[in-house]
Amino acid sequence: MALRVLSAASEAVPLIKTGGLADVAGALPAALAAHGIAMTTMLPGYPAVIAAIGKARCVHTWDALLGEPARLLAAQIGSNDVLVLDAPGYFGRAGTPYADASGKDWGDNWRRFAAFGRAAADIAGGAAKALSFDLLHAHDWQAAMAIAYLRFAPLRAGLRIPTVLTIHNLAFQGWFDPRIFASLELPGSAWSIDGVETYGGVGFLKSGLQLADMVTTVSPTYAREIVRPEFGMGLEGLIALRGDHVRGIVNGIDKAEWNPQTDPALAAGYGPRSLGKRKANKRALEQHFGLEQDDGPLFIMISRLTWQKGADLICEVLDHLVGNGGRLAILGSGDPDIVAGLQAGAARHPGKVGVHIGYDEALSHRMQGGGDAILVPSRFEPCGLTQLYALAYGCVPVVTRTGGLSDTVIDANPAALGAGVATGIQFDGAHYHGLASAITRTIALYRQPGQWRRTQGNGMAADFSWDRSGAEYAAIYQQLAGGTP
Ligand code: ADP
Ligand code: GLC
Repeated sequence: MALRVLSAASEAVPLIKTGGLADVAGALPAALAAHGIAMTTMLPGYPAVIAAIGKARCVHTWDALLGEPARLLAAQIGSNDVLVLDAPGYFGRAGTPYADASGKDWGDNWRRFAAFGRAAADIAGGAAKALSFDLLHAHDWQAAMAIAYLRFAPLRAGLRIPTVLTIHNLAFQGWFDPRIFASLELPGSAWSIDGVETYGGVGFLKSGLQLADMVTTVSPTYAREIVRPEFGMGLEGLIALRGDHVRGIVNGIDKAEWNPQTDPALAAGYGPRSLGKRKANKRALEQHFGLEQDDGPLFIMISRLTWQKGADLICEVLDHLVGNGGRLAILGSGDPDIVAGLQAGAARHPGKVGVHIGYDEALSHRMQGGGDAILVPSRFEPCGLTQLYALAYGCVPVVTRTGGLSDTVIDANPAALGAGVATGIQFDGAHYHGLASAITRTIALYRQPGQWRRTQGNGMAADFSWDRSGAEYAAIYQQLAGGTP
């Protein structure tokens, strides 16, 4: 019989998305079905999720889930089984999943996501009669407490269910004041350095990292980087201690969603042998962003506008980019200072720089289909998905040599060009000079049409489907749950 895995995540497409976690959690069930794993995804019942699932079956209720009434709804979205924690006291609010409309984190995030963890632990442990699972897979800090509840306060004494934690980004740890411990409904024994205690407070991600049977992160290079203080964000010691129990598995992309031949968002579909059709998409993009029509290199960026993503460097490098004949279209939202800097840059360079502040899934597809090169100057990047979508769309990625960016792009240096294997531009050091010289190199490559087309074609031929990574997750599940592949 197929292994049954409960995948607990705070976001999953197509129901709710603020970042790459949603793409990954949404794609995993299909990726794993191909390897004989039956995965059910459990999500918090944010208003968008409740609205999207429509009529759903109630499969379990809690009178007081850490103090609030809650119920579990079961639905089918496409071919995926989904469980939704309907707890209006925790999740029934306007704003983003984590913050109010002004961008301030909800003050009770610790209780909201402890409750989500408690619920996932109950369901993985068999609380709902109709559901049973062989393994729990928790994603990021929002689901990590499920692992602590399974260890310290399982539904039944002696219950043992294997657990996997995936870290999508160590920068978000869910660290809270020690006074919340008393309200978590955990036994006193959990308050220890081997339990949930973290630098004097309660660390949600750290708890999972400490207690999961296996920890994965979303690229091999990031798995190696996070044992160092520059990347470990205070958890490097524990990560090093967990040693072989921490593995990097690179994310795949959903080829049904991200395929330039069939993408309904594009003005013109195309494949590796019809790259000329990208021109119509480029024209459409220039129009959307109010840019001059021009056959010179059109750079794009699609990103959270934050320090992690190096979005501040874009403000610094704009004059260089435009001065060298480039144009830039940016889609994103985030840090107000960066937004202001980009808008000032666009005002300084009318017709050359266009900025669209907001979140727009269809526009992100159109940008990948019409842009010549995408800038991803991240200071750290656990995996990164936009460079993978870019590769699939023949939009050449320009990336820092870090994390998953390092693992997924082959730099167009003379040797790689000579060998015909380059897929993009990599540079060391997320700072002005690193990015400026990468832009110079990109423009020079663009001006050699044969090499440019070859680089585009190599990216499009690279395989970032879920096949390989799905198999790696399946092998971990089989190993932990003792099944045979
Ligand atoms: P992260 O999860 O750290 O933000 P990733 O590259 O893994 O970075 O994933 C980001 C995802 O969010 C991608 O699917 C990207 O296309 C999408 N995205 C980011 N910003 C926007 C935006 N403003 N509009 C539409 N999609 C966006
Ligand atoms: C996080 C990381 C990003 C990764 C995504 C999905 O948001 O910042 O690098 O691609 O999770 O795993």
